[in-house]
Amino acid sequence: MKIDEIQTPAYVCEKSKLRANLALLQSVGERSGAVVLCALKGFAFSLGMPLVKKYLSGATCSGLHEAKFARQMLGAGAQVHTYSPAFKECDMAEILSLSDHVVFNSASQWRKYRAQAMSAGVQCGLRLNPQTSFAPKDAYNPCGKFSRLGMTLGALERAISEESGFLEGISGFHFHALCEEGAENLERVLEAFEAKFSKYFGVIKWLNFGGGHHITREGYNVELLISLIKKFREKYGVEVFLEPGEAVGWECGYLVASVLDIVENDANIAILDTSAEAHMPDTVLMPYRPTVRGESKEGKFVYRFGGNTCLAGDIVGLEAGEPEYKFDTPLKIGDRVIFEDQIHYTIVKNTTFNGIKLPNLVMVDESGNVEDMIEFGYEEFRRRN
Ligand SMILES: Cc1ncc(COP(=O)(O)O)c(C=O)c1O
Repeated sequence: MKIDEIQTPAYVCEKSKLRANLALLQSVGERSGAVVLCALKGFAFSLGMPLVKKYLSGATCSGLHEAKFARQMLGAGAQVHTYSPAFKECDMAEILSLSDHVVFNSASQWRKYRAQAMSAGVQCGLRLNPQTSFAPKDAYNPCGKFSRLGMTLGALERAISEESGFLEGISGFHFHALCEEGAENLERVLEAFEAKFSKYFGVIKWLNFGGGHHITREGYNVELLISLIKKFREKYGVEVFLEPGEAVGWECGYLVASVLDIVENDANIAILDTSAEAHMPDTVLMPYRPTVRGESKEGKFVYRFGGNTCLAGDIVGLEAGEPEYKFDTPLKIGDRVIFEDQIHYTIVKNTTFNGIKLPNLVMVDESGNVEDMIEFGYEEFRRRN
């Protein structure tokens, strides 16, 4: 089947672009000596997992379901690292059986699961909060005021003063402080992390630099990243992990929708068989305005794109303050509209709000041939409600 014959809405992953992202991430690992894991929270596109398995060392998971998925998709040879803000007792035995590394978020979680985790033989780590971040927005800043994500230096020192053997059994530390950022910001975060926590580095064998590294974005300073990793590996004799999610799926596919109707109310509003709210949530949360293929700055035909839901604000680009899209030719009912860069943090966050259909998942080759497809329908809505 050719790509223009598929039903909409659909997320279409362009295999050659995904492969190029993964090859770059693999080369960062090879050249720096770091172990690169795919953060499933951002990219869990199942049709892409055979490629992830080929290029990366494993996956980082947010809990039981992602850990199960990682093992199922990436096999016994993959590294599975699992971190949750808090683990549930009923999940823990299975998480430990699936994971190589488990990272705890607080002193109480570590104390609660220490014996169980150590007897399971996994590598245990603590997530630390360097309280330094340059994330663009509070909602994406894991190190801001009142953050629940990771132990601050104060919390760590309190735990050690209460129990001198607190760090026994801990083989690594983890931090996550970046969001779509360059290696220059990583360098600044590492300086803060080192200044605060290096006095405890004697007990660890590994350090996880988290995600948020925008490695596959054009202009990212890969050489600086490699030198920072090498410096840490050499200075402290630790293994370094990176766990990018967005960088795996960055600009490697799109969401294609169809125009169902065009209404006029002081603007032309095209109603699509998709939804910003349900299918492109970061356009609402981040917020940002996705590029539409074929739009033209000077175009005379101007449209807003509305979702097929009851939410008045379900308009693409509205939250970013740029809801207007211009084209050189008029849109017609039945036309396809392609929102670029919609593979990461979309599928993993989908909802069936208003009973709207989940977009199908498609893998396409360079010649526009559909290689593989997963179709969704009513069953997904029924089972979730
Ligand atoms: C602990 C942790 N690791 C990795 C990631 C992946 O980040 P990104 O997709 O921005 O690379 C996240 C994202 O929130 C995270 O919370």
